[in-house]
Amino acid sequence: MKRIGLLGCGAIGTQIALAIDTGKIPGVLTHIYDNSKYAATELASKLNNKPLIVENSHLLSSNPIDIIVEAASQDAVKDVALSVLQNKRDLMIMSVGALLDESIYDVLSDACNHFKKTIYLPSGAIAGLDGLKSVKDELESVSITTTKHPRSLKGAKFFETSDINLDAIDSSTIIFEGTAKEAVSMFPANINVAALLSLCGIGSEKTIVKIIADPNTDKNTHHIEAKGKFGKMTFTIENFPDPNNPKTSRLAILSAIETLRKYCSDDIQIGT
Ligand SMILES: NC(=O)c1ccc[n+]([C@@H]2O[C@H](COP(=O)([O-])OP(=O)(O)OC[C@H]3O[C@@H](n4cnc5c(N)ncnc54)[C@H](O)[C@@H]3O)[C@@H](O)[C@H]2O)c1
Repeated sequence: MKRIGLLGCGAIGTQIALAIDTGKIPGVLTHIYDNSKYAATELASKLNNKPLIVENSHLLSSNPIDIIVEAASQDAVKDVALSVLQNKRDLMIMSVGALLDESIYDVLSDACNHFKKTIYLPSGAIAGLDGLKSVKDELESVSITTTKHPRSLKGAKFFETSDINLDAIDSSTIIFEGTAKEAVSMFPANINVAALLSLCGIGSEKTIVKIIADPNTDKNTHHIEAKGKFGKMTFTIENFPDPNNPKTSRLAILSAIETLRKYCSDDIQIGT
């Protein structure tokens, strides 16, 4: 059985831990950590097989563990990712936006090579990355249009310098159009899917992002278009938000669970 350490006990971390505890993921959750002691204790109290709560995030990978699952924040990735690999553990990252910083990406990629360990990035709240990976060398353009309720966009850095008043939007309105790289700095909390697309396809300076605020939607919708010598792909994903954290889509949680289940299973692997 694979031994799993969990960094981050919020919406995603809790569902992953429950999936391990109920046997859906055939592994053992041995150690957990969260900046909030309350979140870690709360999570442990819901589990039949109690993991050890460690005192800091670096103690997760110094224990005999196969994989650390990060479901915390970009800062957590920047803080621990390298030491996890140096301790010869695999790593699954949910806060993918952290990897759009090229220096971080390169350091972690070199470390994977050097320590013979793997970083897993689940497809998160989108679909189609399998196809995109296959046609990577033939891609000419990739774009993503994300439509959300205005309240899901509140607090983004973009609004510090924009005249747009989210409260005054009464119909579907384009509020941002630019590269994934620009979107990363303007909408840091909404960029995980654009980051994944960039890393999988033609990079963050060529991936085009459009963000639409729609007061009449209750879903997080992503429409992806990719074109090239191979032909054209389009994907539309209409996500329901997770009830415990409306910023996180249910699909993001399910894709994390599936990635970890695959990691822990000796089985026929379906899909690219
Ligand atoms: N890849 C994707 O498609 C995708 C989708 C949704 C969310 N995410 C990302 O996954 C991460 C977790 O999402 P969530 O919905 O579970 O969030 P959440 O806010 O519900 O939970 C995050 C937990 O991590 C803890 N935490 C934050 N920073 C920490 C740190 N440096 N060290 C230790 N603990 C820390 C918080 O206290 C909290 O309990 C976020 O970064 C989010 O942006 C990725």
